[in-house]
Amino acid sequence: MNRSTPLMFGALALASLALAACHGDRTDKPPHQFLPDMDDSPKWKNQGKSEFFADGRTMRPAVPGTVAFGRWDIDPKAAEGQAWAVSFMDERANLLREDDAFYRGTDAAGKYVARIPITVDAGLLRRGEERFNIYCAACHGYAGDGAGMVGQRWTAPPPSFHDPKYSDPREPDQKGTDGFIFFTALNGVPGPEGHVTPADDSDTVMRKLAALKMPSYKHALSARDAWAVVAHIRVLQETQRGTLSDAPADKRAALEAAKAKLPPAPESGAAPKGTP
Ligand code: HEC
Repeated sequence: MNRSTPLMFGALALASLALAACHGDRTDKPPHQFLPDMDDSPKWKNQGKSEFFADGRTMRPAVPGTVAFGRWDIDPKAAEGQAWAVSFMDERANLLREDDAFYRGTDAAGKYVARIPITVDAGLLRRGEERFNIYCAACHGYAGDGAGMVGQRWTAPPPSFHDPKYSDPREPDQKGTDGFIFFTALNGVPGPEGHVTPADDSDTVMRKLAALKMPSYKHALSARDAWAVVAHIRVLQETQRGTLSDAPADKRAALEAAKAKLPPAPESGAAPKGTP
């Protein structure tokens, strides 16, 4: 045992006392900060001010000439049959959302596309029916006639999709185009002051939101889902317009038999029934 041993024991005993004192204790005093710059590290927010950069902005503009990830043009002809190139171009298109028709429902000139830009098959129709019944039917009704339970009590009356202006793509206001319905599904219908823009202050945002006629469904529907909903609305319209001769010949007899069993049609002019 040398002379420093008792000192060491003393220090250890003190240290363990100090630690024991921390354990489970409650105190109103501010905690000790041994490394304050790690507890409270400086933080910059995207839109915040910076003293460091000459332009005063924390968020840095892209360096001139920067190329976004994946922004590399591959000649689609050269890519044909090359799996890696096809998936690369797919990934790129999704990342940069460059396909206006698919993501925005518009063509290069900014006009709504007349027709759904993806293949409409049974799977898409099923998806569209399901999404429509979840997100749109409450107001627009399961039959698309505007008589949904919420719609009947909503601040603005939802229109019926059987109004011919929602099916003729040549209507001057473009409301009959697939692109318009797609756009409306994703963006809703704003009030008299229009859509919310990034330049709006919080009062304006609240005012615009309070006045909106139809909420946007961007948070709930992917672009593909929104096209599926458009396809289902087209199906609903067809159910009201179609005649027996539109059905395949081998299905007509069964349809006639089903029709014969239906209760008589309600008197015209009767109030629309609430949808189930
Ligand atoms: C909360 C009720 C509500 C829901 C849910 C709703 N809508 Fe609407 N929608 C409305 C109202 C109200 C209007 C009429 C707005 C107006 O007065 O211009 C409307 C109008 C529309 C129009 C026509 C817009 C125009 O300018 O003519 C389309 C198309 C439409 N909705 C599609 C949809 C689709 C698709 C969904 C589901 C994704 C949906 N809506 C869900 C209430 C709703």
